Amino acid sequence: MKILRKSRVLLFIGVLWLCAASCPQAGENSITTLPERIVLNVTQTPAGSQAVTWQTLKTAGYPAAQIIKLSELLTPDSSPATFPAQTQVVELDKKQIYHHSVIFNSLFPDTLYAYRVGEAPCWSEWNQFKTASQTREPFTFLYFGDIQKQIFPMCSQMFRAALQQEPESRFWLLCGDMVNNGPDDREWNDFFNAMGWMPRTIPLVLVPGNHEYPDKRFISQDAYHITNLWRPQFAQPENGPKGLEESAFSFEYQGVCFIVLNGNEQTKEQAVWMETILLKNKQPWIIVAIHQPVYSISQRKDRTNFQDLLVPVFDRFSVDLVLQGHDHGYTRTFPLKNNQLASEKTKGTIYVISNAGPKVYPVGSRYDHLMAKTRSGGMLFQSIRVDKNRLQFKAYDMMKKVVDSFDIRKIN
Ligand SMILES: [Fe+2]
Ligand SMILES: [Fe+2]
Repeated sequence: MKILRKSRVLLFIGVLWLCAASCPQAGENSITTLPERIVLNVTQTPAGSQAVTWQTLKTAGYPAAQIIKLSELLTPDSSPATFPAQTQVVELDKKQIYHHSVIFNSLFPDTLYAYRVGEAPCWSEWNQFKTASQTREPFTFLYFGDIQKQIFPMCSQMFRAALQQEPESRFWLLCGDMVNNGPDDREWNDFFNAMGWMPRTIPLVLVPGNHEYPDKRFISQDAYHITNLWRPQFAQPENGPKGLEESAFSFEYQGVCFIVLNGNEQTKEQAVWMETILLKNKQPWIIVAIHQPVYSISQRKDRTNFQDLLVPVFDRFSVDLVLQGHDHGYTRTFPLKNNQLASEKTKGTIYVISNAGPKVYPVGSRYDHLMAKTRSGGMLFQSIRVDKNRLQFKAYDMMKKVVDSFDIRKIN
């Protein structure tokens, strides 16, 4: 029995070694099936499933992802489960790019897994992730405002500082304008280079900004769609309004109902859809993310009608926190209700705008009467820790110094 186990181990190690050794590396054969841009996304059911996407320059026709409990990765009698991938082909500069995605399902909650993606013999390295708990365990996630410019040279250090500060954060929420020109794949290349291996192990939640769309000034209304790179290179929930799959969606994570809105189009439909989600919601905390702010601090004339459209829904369901970007500065409101300061007795919603990249705008004074904190300039990241009765918010600069913080307390 012992000999059999030992030989199985040797066979398993041998297969792994052969797989690694026989995959052509860049330079030997310029086009390989080697996986690149591997990224995890949060699913609608993060306690039982996990999405992963990657791309290759060619495919042999059987791309897949393999997964095993991390505790069993080195166990001789265990073998990983294989999930065949779905593939979408994107034509770029007369080159075909293959985007593959897998949703791992039937996973155990609160469990560490190892996974790899590719096609034998060109597998990625084994990476780890942890599923969400089914209970309301405290957890931390990070929130970033616009990245948009100097994505690799400047923003990479922001991501590294964020990881050093909060290595155990369960996912990163990026609040739009991840790039400046959404249809330009070179900018997404910078994005993935700036992120490095981090999105292989920390799932991303991506909110579409206006820069993930074409510039309205130069196109017809019919051509106004999110970049055709968005859906192939990410795998986000498809439970939003029709036509906004993967760009407006909701999910629940350990006591929080998260709603991601797409502020670029069909906002009326999203207000109605959000109401249906919140009517069914049983989670004690509600956090909404939208790129374009409800109370814009920009001096530009791009005010939205969100105060009429979204605020009544936020007020009705006592949304705790609204995370936003777009204005390239930092502000945090007092708790608000009906577009005014909430009274002592009334629970209000706190609206935050933040910025992660080096592109900054001056902060306007239009809503100074609503603001608890305003700050021009700077590249920031935010940690949000959600406990049963307390939400702790901290904004950090690149030196990892806290530049703003507040708590929201829930009294049951
Ligand atoms: Fe924007
Ligand atoms: Fe922006």
